[in-house]
Amino acid sequence: MEVTIQIDGKEIRTEQGANVLEAALTNGIYIPHLCHHPDLPDIGSCRLCIVEVEGREGVCPSCRLEAEEGMKIRTDSEQISHLRKLSMELILAAHPEDCSTCPKYGQCEMQTLIQYMGVSATRMNTRVKGIKMDDRNPLIIHDMNRCVLCGRCVRACNDLRGVGVLHYNKKDMETYVGTLHDRLLKDSDCRFCGACAEVCPTGTIRDVMNYTAVEKKDTLIPCQAACPAHADVPRYVRFVKEGKMEEATAVIHEKIPFPECLGHICAHACEGNCRRGEVNEAVSIRNIKRYAAEHANNEMWKKNSKHLPSTGKKVCVVGGGPAGMTAAYYLAKQGHKTVLKEAMPKLGGQMQYGIPSYRLPREVVDREAGYLQDAGVKVETDCRVEDPKALLKEYDAVLMAIGTHMGVRLPMEGNDLPGVLLNADFLQNAAMGKRTGMGKRVIVLGGGNVAFDCARTAVRLGAEEIHLACLEARENMLADDEEIEQAQEEGIHVHPAHTFERICGTDHVTGVEFCNVKSFTFDENRRAVIEKEEGSNHVIEGDTVIFAVGQRAQITADAGLELGRGNSIAVKDESLATSVDGIFACGDAVYGTKTVIQGVASGREAASEIDRYLGGDGDISEVLAPVQEKNPWIGKIEGFGYLERAKEQFVPVEERRDNFDPISSGICDAEICGEAGRCLQCDLRFNITGHRLWSDYTDQEVAE
Ligand code: FES
Repeated sequence: MEVTIQIDGKEIRTEQGANVLEAALTNGIYIPHLCHHPDLPDIGSCRLCIVEVEGREGVCPSCRLEAEEGMKIRTDSEQISHLRKLSMELILAAHPEDCSTCPKYGQCEMQTLIQYMGVSATRMNTRVKGIKMDDRNPLIIHDMNRCVLCGRCVRACNDLRGVGVLHYNKKDMETYVGTLHDRLLKDSDCRFCGACAEVCPTGTIRDVMNYTAVEKKDTLIPCQAACPAHADVPRYVRFVKEGKMEEATAVIHEKIPFPECLGHICAHACEGNCRRGEVNEAVSIRNIKRYAAEHANNEMWKKNSKHLPSTGKKVCVVGGGPAGMTAAYYLAKQGHKTVLKEAMPKLGGQMQYGIPSYRLPREVVDREAGYLQDAGVKVETDCRVEDPKALLKEYDAVLMAIGTHMGVRLPMEGNDLPGVLLNADFLQNAAMGKRTGMGKRVIVLGGGNVAFDCARTAVRLGAEEIHLACLEARENMLADDEEIEQAQEEGIHVHPAHTFERICGTDHVTGVEFCNVKSFTFDENRRAVIEKEEGSNHVIEGDTVIFAVGQRAQITADAGLELGRGNSIAVKDESLATSVDGIFACGDAVYGTKTVIQGVASGREAASEIDRYLGGDGDISEVLAPVQEKNPWIGKIEGFGYLERAKEQFVPVEERRDNFDPISSGICDAEICGEAGRCLQCDLRFNITGHRLWSDYTDQEVAE
């Protein structure tokens, strides 16, 4: 039932029994407060929010005052001001005077209150608590010298989250907030949700990472920030935890048109930045994505998918790899008549002709490539474009997404001997079931993932001895650790820190001469500085050498486009426009060989830019999954910080060496929800109501 109350003469309608402080704040009347937080039960301890009620003796905290019909409230008077200042001075007595040394300086709620009330701690006999700052825990710092005992963190941990890690402790007559017996947070079953740091009005409980208000989201949800396509990782992981694979897949589809492909081979920058990794091990995000995509029936995202009416504009996308496919997909959905021309017989680019099928099954690529036709893209395969400018006669815009399909031959002795192969050709021939020209003893030069793809493909094609050598030391090798370890399991000899001196042989490769590297760095101009170990020259014998030291775009100046470094297509700034009006470029052909997810992100940017160029608003965003109910009550889980990452299931080495069958089955049914449950739910704290400062109430003035 609604009642009418008066606050400082202003009539307010509110629910009977409503918290008077909240009623005032929501009606634009600021009352100073500290221990109150709208998401937490009130304890009325700071007494800054005191008010007078007509007909009642003395003052009372408005956060504990319930609205009643006809109530008349004063938020300011001489008495109120005096008592408030006294309370504030008592609070400040044990708080360090120098704010400028606090990492929360400029973002501290307490600091703004001091400003508002015009109080100074110097009137009091200040004391220093002398409690050592606790920085033993990952992610969260406890600096109890700054604590004003408002108790928000304790209530957030106990009453909002139901975790119950934080308590009031006592030592040497000093009360402070901490864990039982001052244990580590991990040993106290902390969920590392960050609610305590979020509600703390001072710099007492704070994140280890410093950030500005603008950087906060990217810093605290780094998985999403690190994903080039910015997939909403916590949201889909939470759906998976709840067993809702259809919804999870719809979330992924909001940013990534090929979730199952990415679930197999994504470079997973999200995992590299996952905050759970600081507690023990990162969440297995890529496998969670894979599981969701494999177990969805794909009805939800298709039903909710955006299809704008025809714009009458025509776009030609040249290149059917991850970037081109993505761009074509979104351009068609924006209502543009989109044709995708691919030089090879099938769509997929590196997903079809580069990454071996034991890592990415081709039926997955073909199935997800099919989404393009569903979206209305006209696909023309076996169609190589030599003259992109000529396409402008037929199309309003052209996008060059031709990838980097030309291997790089290092300038060194013997580089053109029979038996020398290039990574791109080798992998493409292997993928197409063609002869590769490989012998029995293979030496791969290069240490990235593509080099390992070559070496592991050679294993499966029957090579008897395989060596892989690279300049980088083992710890700096570019390939994933998992890739290196599996290659070694498969019998590949890995030689880090090796220079390539020359390829030996007269009429055919007979080996490669190497030197050991003492140090390998780059100077300020990004030029390699290599120090060799004297007298370490040695030859590894072999009949095949595969260069796997990079790839370039297959394009020449004849195409009529300005080219940049490494044969890339030059684009102007973020518009992705090339030197020819109406022709855009994206993906590897612009920035050099990168990951599939980077191609997806680049394809999305290109679609948005071209849509704008053609008169659209460039907005390719979609909401494909329903609003997610995020339960703030996450509860306690015994040993949460120690829960181990679910193991990806790999085919034993003896069963995988002689075939291209998939080597991983991901995470099993029994473990998938548990793995998703290891997520710290870093996004949950963004549902906590933010601080409301007096400066948010424009008609208020600083106390004299
Ligand atoms: Fe009401 Fe602290 S805010 S007593």
